[in-house]
Amino acid sequence: MTTNMYENIVVTIAETPRPRRFRPTGALKGTIRVPGDKSISHRAIMLSALAVGESRITGLLEGEDVLATAAAMRAMGATIERMTDGEWRVHGVGVGGLLQPDEPLEMGNSGTSTRLLMGLVASHAITATFTGDASLSKRPMGRVIDPLSLMGAAFDSAEGGDSAESGRLPLTMRGASPAVPITYTLPVASAQVKSAVLLAGLNTPGITTVIEPVPTRDHSERMLKGFGADLTVEIAPDGTRTIRLVGEAELRPQTIEVPGDPSSAAFFMVAGLIVPGSDILIENVGMNATRAGLYYVLRAMGGRIEAVNLREVGGEPVADLHVQHSALTGIDVDPAIAPSMIDEFPVLFVAAALASGTTRTSGLEELRVKESDRLSAMATALKAIGAIVTESDDGLTIVGTGGEPLEGAKVGDSPIVTHLDHRIAMSMAVAGLASYNGVEVDDTRPIATSFPVFVALLDGLSA
Ligand code: S3P
Repeated sequence: MTTNMYENIVVTIAETPRPRRFRPTGALKGTIRVPGDKSISHRAIMLSALAVGESRITGLLEGEDVLATAAAMRAMGATIERMTDGEWRVHGVGVGGLLQPDEPLEMGNSGTSTRLLMGLVASHAITATFTGDASLSKRPMGRVIDPLSLMGAAFDSAEGGDSAESGRLPLTMRGASPAVPITYTLPVASAQVKSAVLLAGLNTPGITTVIEPVPTRDHSERMLKGFGADLTVEIAPDGTRTIRLVGEAELRPQTIEVPGDPSSAAFFMVAGLIVPGSDILIENVGMNATRAGLYYVLRAMGGRIEAVNLREVGGEPVADLHVQHSALTGIDVDPAIAPSMIDEFPVLFVAAALASGTTRTSGLEELRVKESDRLSAMATALKAIGAIVTESDDGLTIVGTGGEPLEGAKVGDSPIVTHLDHRIAMSMAVAGLASYNGVEVDDTRPIATSFPVFVALLDGLSA
């Protein structure tokens, strides 16, 4: 075991994999509340750390990824304190005020921490080294190195090169001050790349412009405006978004309530739909249109999910989701909806494996560069437990069972390989609930990166 101290949170990380078998449990019933949104939590810490004065955050996700962001912002000068569960206070250094970190910034498993923090460092006169775990060290950083180089930052990375898909951690970057404002058209639909450029633009003189042909999650834009940045979004008739940020911004401290994470709710949405007799209420789920794709796809498959008590929390639309066991039907998923459910495909594939008929997905090349190659990992995992899956370059085609449980693990099978990917582990846990024999995953440790209470909530619903 190793322990990391993040203020008064002690995170105990087992050094050896933690396998676990997820068995069929019977109907899931009850009311749960999922932890705070991971994307919003990262941004809340980062922007609070750049505002002068005290910001208060409630509902913060205390997963390892967000704790890595908090530790990095602390290493660059911000004062960040945990008051009680999910309630944090941050005293920022002001835009332009980040300090040289003494040690490498350890990013763990978190691509969002890495890419957004690279954006922040890019326009400060500091040099920082980013390191990560085996999964993160395989992921492409060229997609942020490219625009940040245009702004004046310099990089030295493993597997350097000039393609957006090269450049790996460990990586050292030297920020530029003053940085150069750019107009950048995103070559991949990526909220992380968009956010990296906008965050670099905060401390850059002039106007930084990001052109986004395909809309991605807009939490950075919403929160930058909320902190008082001069940011405008123009939407062309074809849907292209042009985001302009006036640099050398002054951010004002805020009180932020982080809504529940739709990407965490996703596992319980699918579990409730595929486990016979289930009836659950998931409270306080973010329903931002740039994140809500799974809700619409599951409903199109015949899923009984109702969004009730629609309201606004922390500048984001939120609802409670009432989910009941349903007979699902396979569909062709329109690739245009992919960015609004990019992290939810692994668990959608599980729903598809229990539906009647065929579900076809395409346009999902990006899934190959997430915490694992999620197309390959899910195809292999689902086939191992009896599902009928065909993998193509950019998607999976799945012929469902029509509601009959999957076979699950056979005697002598090795556990499902999760490749240090939290969402593969949780998706296959959900598959285990709708199987005859249960499913054993090789390692549950990565679940703590985004959803530390996942197993506890599952146990509570099946009690
Ligand atoms: C995120 C953006 C998405 C998503 C990730 C979180 C963010 O990544 O997969 O889990 O918070 O901006 P990409 O921007 O690479 O698509």
